[in-house]
Amino acid sequence: MKAVKMSEGIYRVGANIKNGDMFEGMWPIPDGVSLNCYVVKGRETALIDMVDDWNNAPGQIREQLESISLRINDFDYLILNHMEPDHIGWLHEFVRLNPDVKILTTPKGVDLVKTFCGITENVRAVVTGDTLDLGDGKLLSFTEVPNVHWPETMVTYETSSGILFSCDAFGSYGEVNESVFDDELSQEQHDFYDRESLRYYANIIATFSHFVLKAIDKLSSLDIKMIAPSHGIVWRENPGKIVERYRQFANFMNGKGLPEITLIWGSMYGYTEKVVNSVVKGIRSESVPVHVHRVPEENASWALSDAWKSAGLVFGMPTYEYKMFPPIAGVVDVFEDKRVWNKKVFRFGSFGWSGGAQKDFIEKTSKLKWEFIEPLEWQGAADDEIHQTAFDRGAELARLIKSRI
Ligand code: FEO
Repeated sequence: MKAVKMSEGIYRVGANIKNGDMFEGMWPIPDGVSLNCYVVKGRETALIDMVDDWNNAPGQIREQLESISLRINDFDYLILNHMEPDHIGWLHEFVRLNPDVKILTTPKGVDLVKTFCGITENVRAVVTGDTLDLGDGKLLSFTEVPNVHWPETMVTYETSSGILFSCDAFGSYGEVNESVFDDELSQEQHDFYDRESLRYYANIIATFSHFVLKAIDKLSSLDIKMIAPSHGIVWRENPGKIVERYRQFANFMNGKGLPEITLIWGSMYGYTEKVVNSVVKGIRSESVPVHVHRVPEENASWALSDAWKSAGLVFGMPTYEYKMFPPIAGVVDVFEDKRVWNKKVFRFGSFGWSGGAQKDFIEKTSKLKWEFIEPLEWQGAADDEIHQTAFDRGAELARLIKSRI
């Protein structure tokens, strides 16, 4: 691949990670993820963000830099918007090859440059409102956006082009190949990045949704003509679209979910499984979309993504040793960590010699601001009456979703 010109003297160089690894060591990325960096050339040259030493990402970046006749030691500045290792794993080697490069990051970023990479020379802290004049009309302006995604995070805005280099903010899973800009994508590709930006958001950013809304407000005074995140595509034609999508994603935490239901279930011997379809039929009888996920067979990444946007949740699980079925308890833990808040919820499931899952479920979800409808539990195998009640409760939850939105 070659570097992609974005504006005069400004280029995107990116690496695709598609090696079967998981993002953050836990989130599947079957369609890969891109790690994007950006070159800004004035009289001096800056590289904005970098990559981890992962799946030959440094080699991919160097090849693209060569396509615009740049080598590592041609850079005067490294701008580090964010210090999570997917963006700085290559830093130590980069500085070894270019020991004179000047590193700019936030004050908290300076600490992390030291702790992650042992680098203290030529590191300078910048704060909101600071600028860097690269000459030839290229001026970089920095804005701290704490907790989007880590406390030290900032974004960089190039004033002559109106390009916002936003790092994790406005990013997405999915590798990026020849179509780098939003205006080059087919509808099918747009649909893909719509899905994968939501899954990325739910998996990586969701916990910090309040900070996302603050950051969007903070950046609203900028005349943004292009958004260039460090994961996913560059928004050239319609940068406002990804901003509004992120605003919508963040507001899902505040209860503004879509009129949809996500059903997550797990079963030991099939007695809870047999009732799943009755609940699904009840939901569908009210023409409400339902997304069904089974654990532990499926990674929680997709259930989290659907649950994040859905106004309603259903959990199907048996009691396991007086408590929740452990794979579902794991999902509930993830939902608590990610702040899957303000949902309308129904839980159903079987038990053998004793119940207990329902009590455990209510206790463990007490901080999530969930509104419950009456649960459904039964001992042993479900009879026709249980199936009918499951159908009715599914329909009841669906009606509740429709009435509140
Ligand atoms: Fe792409 Fe928070 O790192």
